[in-house]
Amino acid sequence: MESRRSDILKPALEGGAPAMPAPCPPMYPGGNLIDAREERAVIDTLRQKRLFRYYGPTPGPSKVDELEQRFAQKMGARRALAVTSGTAALICAVQALGIGPGDEVIIPAYTWIATAAAVLAAGAIPVVAEVDASLTLDPDDLPNRLSDYTRAIIPVHMRGVPCRMAEIMAFARAHDLKVIEDTAQADGATYRGQRLGTLGDAGCYSLQFNKIITSGEGGMLVTDDEQLWQRALMYHDVIGGLRNEIPAQDVLWGINFRMPELLAAVALAQLDKLDPLLETMRARKAILRTALRSLAEQKGLYLQEIPDPEGEAAVAFILFATGPDQARRLSRAISAEHVEAYTLYDPNEVDYHVYTHWIPIVAQRAWNPANLPWAAAPRPVDYSPEACPHTLDLLSRAVHIDVNPLYTGAEIEAVAEAIEKALHYYA
Ligand SMILES: Cc1ncc(COP(=O)(O)O)c(C=O)c1O
Repeated sequence: MESRRSDILKPALEGGAPAMPAPCPPMYPGGNLIDAREERAVIDTLRQKRLFRYYGPTPGPSKVDELEQRFAQKMGARRALAVTSGTAALICAVQALGIGPGDEVIIPAYTWIATAAAVLAAGAIPVVAEVDASLTLDPDDLPNRLSDYTRAIIPVHMRGVPCRMAEIMAFARAHDLKVIEDTAQADGATYRGQRLGTLGDAGCYSLQFNKIITSGEGGMLVTDDEQLWQRALMYHDVIGGLRNEIPAQDVLWGINFRMPELLAAVALAQLDKLDPLLETMRARKAILRTALRSLAEQKGLYLQEIPDPEGEAAVAFILFATGPDQARRLSRAISAEHVEAYTLYDPNEVDYHVYTHWIPIVAQRAWNPANLPWAAAPRPVDYSPEACPHTLDLLSRAVHIDVNPLYTGAEIEAVAEAIEKALHYYA
């Protein structure tokens, strides 16, 4: 028995059998679950020839309307607005809050570049702040980033992990700042029992293909604030003001982020799958946590801190190595076991999730010859590695492993074994 165990623990890199017999399926939680329900929804919509939200040959309720109602209900928000992407949802939220030239918005140094781009699209300046060991916005760093120009904070629930919202909201309220939750990577997750996206002034979700649920592309904005919703509605549709009978003195121009009916049909089918998906991923991740926490700690590594372990979406298992070399070694060893693992920051490999790699933003380059909004920034802004060194250190030591909901019970045990082998041999 003893010798069998040591044989099991021989890493694939040293000639042992990989813990997982074959490479794992790609991590598309909702995408991998597309089945006859989405097919039927699309075919029905096509047969009705009702592809546009507001009219078509078949009268009757629109799929986009239904999605908005069901999404708001699911999240526990008063209002929802369906748009074409998570980025579009963020842009609508920033615009609806009246944020623009001369304003600053605090965002985390670790987020998809879209968070920063949404701020810039409104003519405001994104100011990066550190993340903590949850890899989400560190509330303790907010005082260092605050200025007379700060109007809002965008906490980002990265990799399905809820930010420390109680502290972020307390800081925001104390300084009269608005809060837009970027929930693109955390559809359906909760913080202290409340769905993410409903704790701040607005919540923005993505339905892009590698998100938790998907319609290929797509986004949702939720809010309890009637005026914010009205303004977002007006902005997302060129004639949103007219269509919604906004009083003449309040009408503003909009653009076009209207969600098509086909996307809404798919998103509705996916929405039904959201809670079971979250349950599966949480159960799978709990197995990894239980199996690996004490071994990791014995080796001087530690697990990502989760501000609300019951509420997180549990899409990833992340541990912090003692240094970047060890993190790379562990990632290589785990990947050799047919369990994909990767580190989260390499200064030499461009990755738009890390602020130092946001090439056009670091260069403060604009679309216009006047170089606005950079040229009119209210104060100098810093995107150098020195701006958020703690974030870069954490990301460079992080080893990221997907918690794929397609894993069977036996497969998640094999994932645990893959990580265990790597820790035994290379940590
Ligand atoms: C944290 C974060 N914010 C915003 C977005 C933008 O979403 P979308 O791709 O739907 O525009 C993404 C998507 O990749 C994201 O990960």
